[in-house]
Amino acid sequence: MPAIVENAARVYRRRDMTRQTPRGAPGVAIFGGAVFDRKYRARQPLVPGTSNPVDGSHSHGGVGRNVAENLARLGARVLFSTIVGNDATGDALIGHLDSVGVDTGRVMRTSVRPTAEYAAILDEHSELALGIADMAIFDLYGPEQLDRAWPATAAAEWVLADCNLPAQVLADLAARCRAAGKRLAANTVSAPKAVKLRGLLERIDLLFTNREEAGALLGNDAATAVECAEALRQAGAQTALVTAAAEGYALLADGAVDWYAAPPASPVDITGAGDSMVAGTLFRLLNGDGLADAARAGALLAARTTETSDSVLAELSPDFFARLVDAALVKG
Ligand SMILES: Nc1ncnc2c1ncn2[C@@H]1O[C@H](COP(=O)(O)OP(=O)(O)OP(=O)(O)O)[C@@H](O)[C@H]1O
Ligand SMILES: [Mg+2]
Repeated sequence: MPAIVENAARVYRRRDMTRQTPRGAPGVAIFGGAVFDRKYRARQPLVPGTSNPVDGSHSHGGVGRNVAENLARLGARVLFSTIVGNDATGDALIGHLDSVGVDTGRVMRTSVRPTAEYAAILDEHSELALGIADMAIFDLYGPEQLDRAWPATAAAEWVLADCNLPAQVLADLAARCRAAGKRLAANTVSAPKAVKLRGLLERIDLLFTNREEAGALLGNDAATAVECAEALRQAGAQTALVTAAAEGYALLADGAVDWYAAPPASPVDITGAGDSMVAGTLFRLLNGDGLADAARAGALLAARTTETSDSVLAELSPDFFARLVDAALVKG
């Protein structure tokens, strides 16, 4: 038995993108991270070096995974390729994605490393005391795994890559997209991971990043979103969305940078806002919107996502999103 095998071959029935055509929308193929997130909130002040009573909870995360779930809930055909362990958290991540309609047939599984996990230990005021990230499994997703997953992207109009994957895989994806005439979107994930896109900016059709990540990618200090977008343009980027949380986002398109204020929101938990913005924007692009309108719709979905503790809105559906966008149009 090889160390890394395809999920479909072992556990689940493979669902082919060409056979799944919900609402006739063209497909998105996502290459990125799936992470099991755990949160522990201390009941009293934390004491190092001993056992502390906490209240624990868990959720599913990872940029690629979150975008895949959002897109599936929106009714898009979506294929997700990642790598998870042969363990219970890997089963849970795949089982949940299956249940919302994501094609997980090209998820790779391995016994070499456990499924990626992030654990946050919060103090009694819910402030982060310590974060622990075990993401070494993503280094096992190499060119060979990409090779095996790539044929399944034939029906996809867009490919989305997140920077959890190794730099070599991101470069290979960019080259394959160019050769196949597919549009490539990318998300920088975090400042340390953003540097993996150095040298690839000219090959990315749509870059999603925030100020800090753009600063790390460009090797300069974090500036305003507009300044970041301008610096990205000078570094060779064609189209980019630089987000600035509650303030809004800068859009680089056709050589010009514009600033857009975020729609109003009453945030409860901002986790997943950036990922829902990616999903909402890609979904509207697939359905024929121009980039500025698509990003506006993505920002509306992101604002709503901040208003619940879910990192992907549980009530998200094609009708929900259409109503959200229509209501904003009426308000002007
Ligand atoms: N408090 C908020 N109110 C309204 N909109 C928000 C708020 N926070 C985020 N957004 C929307 O979501 C977009 C993305 O947010 P943000 O810049 O925090 O992404 P991010 O840094 O990628 O976050 P993450 O990766 O943690 O989801 C913003 O451009 C904005 O449109
Ligand atoms: Mg983000």
